[in-house]
Amino acid sequence: MTEQNEHLALWGGRFTSGPSPELAKLSKSTQFDWRLADDDIAGSRAHARALGRAGLLTDDELRRMEEALDELQRRVDSGEFAPIEDDEDEATALERGLLDIAGDELGGKLRAGRSRNDQIACLIRMWLRRHARRIAGLTLDLVQALIAQSEQAGNAVMPGRTHMQHAQPVLLAHQLMAHVWPLIRDVQRLVDWDARIDASPYGSGALAGNTLGLDPQNVAVELGFSRVTDNSIDGTAARDLVAEFAFVAAMLGVDISRLSEEIIIWNTQEFAFVRLDDAYSTGSSIMPQKKNPDIAELARGKSGRLIGDLTGLLATLKGLPTAYARDLQEDKEAVFDQVDTLEVLLPAFTGMVATMRFDTDRLAAEAPTGFALATDIAEWLVRNGVPFRHAHELSGACVKIAEERGQELWDLTDDDFVTVFADFLPADKAPQVREVLSTEGSVAARRGKGGTAPERVREQIIDAKSKAESLHTFAVSISDGPAYRPEGSLN
Ligand code: ARG
Repeated sequence: MTEQNEHLALWGGRFTSGPSPELAKLSKSTQFDWRLADDDIAGSRAHARALGRAGLLTDDELRRMEEALDELQRRVDSGEFAPIEDDEDEATALERGLLDIAGDELGGKLRAGRSRNDQIACLIRMWLRRHARRIAGLTLDLVQALIAQSEQAGNAVMPGRTHMQHAQPVLLAHQLMAHVWPLIRDVQRLVDWDARIDASPYGSGALAGNTLGLDPQNVAVELGFSRVTDNSIDGTAARDLVAEFAFVAAMLGVDISRLSEEIIIWNTQEFAFVRLDDAYSTGSSIMPQKKNPDIAELARGKSGRLIGDLTGLLATLKGLPTAYARDLQEDKEAVFDQVDTLEVLLPAFTGMVATMRFDTDRLAAEAPTGFALATDIAEWLVRNGVPFRHAHELSGACVKIAEERGQELWDLTDDDFVTVFADFLPADKAPQVREVLSTEGSVAARRGKGGTAPERVREQIIDAKSKAESLHTFAVSISDGPAYRPEGSLN
């Protein structure tokens, strides 16, 4: 290693002194951006071939350059090569590694026609596209666990709530599937997003493009992109696509948090709707009887962190002049943290969901209570010709009587119904309202599209399964580019 390489900087020609220790410490990013090393080396391979095609590397030089990059990758994989204190960022470290292997003469040719600005803009895209596929896969595992629970729930009923108050009985499967659809949309968002981020900024240079006649389309394809960014300034400066990923990650956190809150409540002694498996619950260090829903609580807590990563990134981007500025270095930790968080959280959360067990007898007993069938009375009256405004009042009158007596609606006598409905229905008709005063009758009646009737819920389960199945191709799709190795050693 030469003296110069020990303190390698990618800039410095015009400087009389090196950076102050304070600046070096502030500027350094290898502690978090080293995980882009695989993608950087893949980018360097593609760039070397572009230099070759442009006649800026001879065939022999290109061959030796590729061998040197292979060796560099090997050293990175084995841990033999890693950033040192003086390396400003992953690009600086890898340049040092390459010069060490290929020598200054050949190694020094690779930087022609590229800048760390287009390089880093490209690397974050490559890294995110790969991890978006993993997160999609983990989310689909959760979708699958919820669908399995829904299928197992069959026609089990539970109290449906609005404002947390008993509202109308619903199928347990219907309530669970209400969490499946947002998760499917999150995966769809990743697929949509991927089509937008599928453009390589390589060739944008520092901001204005390159003068060397390099062909960026081939580089793009080699790195798994189908096209090149249209504007080199935008190519180096745009982080809306990083922020869009961060939104999907935050939304995923919020969606999981909503389900967590439900599970935490269902798991209380008062509700006792669900029991969590021992392997997915924790105990208390002082209270021997405790069994806590920590996974759900951590999920709820981590959603705050996922939102914070998004808002922090948006705040960084706001007000930046449009071309590269060093502020953009701050894009990475936000999404790295989100990816790390989700890749640990989702498998644990899915395990908890897959193993939780519902007390369906208790759910069924609670389903119709709290006058949850009041709407059914009103709608039965409507079917018998009573205008809804009056039907609503008559049903409310039934609730009032039951409440005063401390009874439920089905405890009212035939005489009660005859009296309450007297202005609208004949006495022989009124007691027939009982036909809707059962949970089964209530849920079966809601057979409009998306409703809680068992056949509708079965339909949506089939539909969700086929949507999840088609999204699976995205989750397992790994582009041909060398950086798209399914299990990168650094990631
Ligand atoms: N480490 C920088 C980043 O992550 C790379 C680009 C630095 N470019 C520069 N001109 N200083 O954004």
